Amino acid sequence: VNHLLGIKYITKEDVDLIFETADHFKEVINRPIKKVPSLRDITIANLFFENSTRTRLSFELAEKRLSADVVNFSAASSSVKKGETLIDTVNNILSMKVDMVVMRHPNPGAGVFLSQHVNASIVNAGDGAHEHPTQALLDSYSIRERLGEVAGKNVVIVGDILHSRVALSNIFALKLQGANVKVCGPQTLIPKHIEKLGVEVETNLRRALEWCDVANMLRVQNERMDISYFPSTREYVQQFGLNKALLDSLDKEITIMHPGPINRGVEITSDVADSDHAIILDQVQNGVAVRMAVIYLLASKIKQ
Ligand code: CP
Repeated sequence: VNHLLGIKYITKEDVDLIFETADHFKEVINRPIKKVPSLRDITIANLFFENSTRTRLSFELAEKRLSADVVNFSAASSSVKKGETLIDTVNNILSMKVDMVVMRHPNPGAGVFLSQHVNASIVNAGDGAHEHPTQALLDSYSIRERLGEVAGKNVVIVGDILHSRVALSNIFALKLQGANVKVCGPQTLIPKHIEKLGVEVETNLRRALEWCDVANMLRVQNERMDISYFPSTREYVQQFGLNKALLDSLDKEITIMHPGPINRGVEITSDVADSDHAIILDQVQNGVAVRMAVIYLLASKIKQ
């Protein structure tokens, strides 16, 4: 495989190799000198057609810590605004001797489309409501770090499942590794037939929390809503918001995750997000090591 387009396209063995490689890079980035010379002859373009904080900076740091040359492209300040197509844009960038493209795009399937039309290794950094493979990898890596392993763990993904590339990639990644997965949220924000992916649907948050070892709380993606979905924000908070009182009322320890950005006070309150139950900043930190692993493994195929 010369691309990472989605978790759907990789195997359990690929995930294991990425995690073993990330373990090594996690050690590297905790050293006083955080860099390795592994990718000195590789040039990577980060193409962001949609806003990002964590993913964009994490990829850039991962590339720089591997000593790759890096160029950053933001669609908002580019000639895309003058009507240049995606393929023309990327082929022009590649003609400047770029080896690998990391791309975030609002359209589902944009990475797959690009991989079929240009001659470069493509890493999907999120394509619309489709997949966000490196987020799912860093999420599973963080569960493995906190709980020892992913296999056999009960994981509930809570919130706007319908518009979430994080949810879909996490479902694929968790099932691949033998976790049990439920989704929980308002019926209007859960895709029809999601059970076909091997997950169960739970519409009661308390029951979901009583069942799970890990709760991954998602943001309601207002920017992807094209009609008015029930419930209102106030009703959502009452039914699906995670707060300290609810967490304390459970007779168990739960690991709390969130991919960011957080809408504090909506899907999660600050006293939960900032508590010892939460591994939200660990997820962000692990993102650098996991992305270093993905880029390193793909680049080793370019070099062959
Ligand atoms: N989790 C995530 O993708 O965050 P950003 O949109 O800030 O990259």
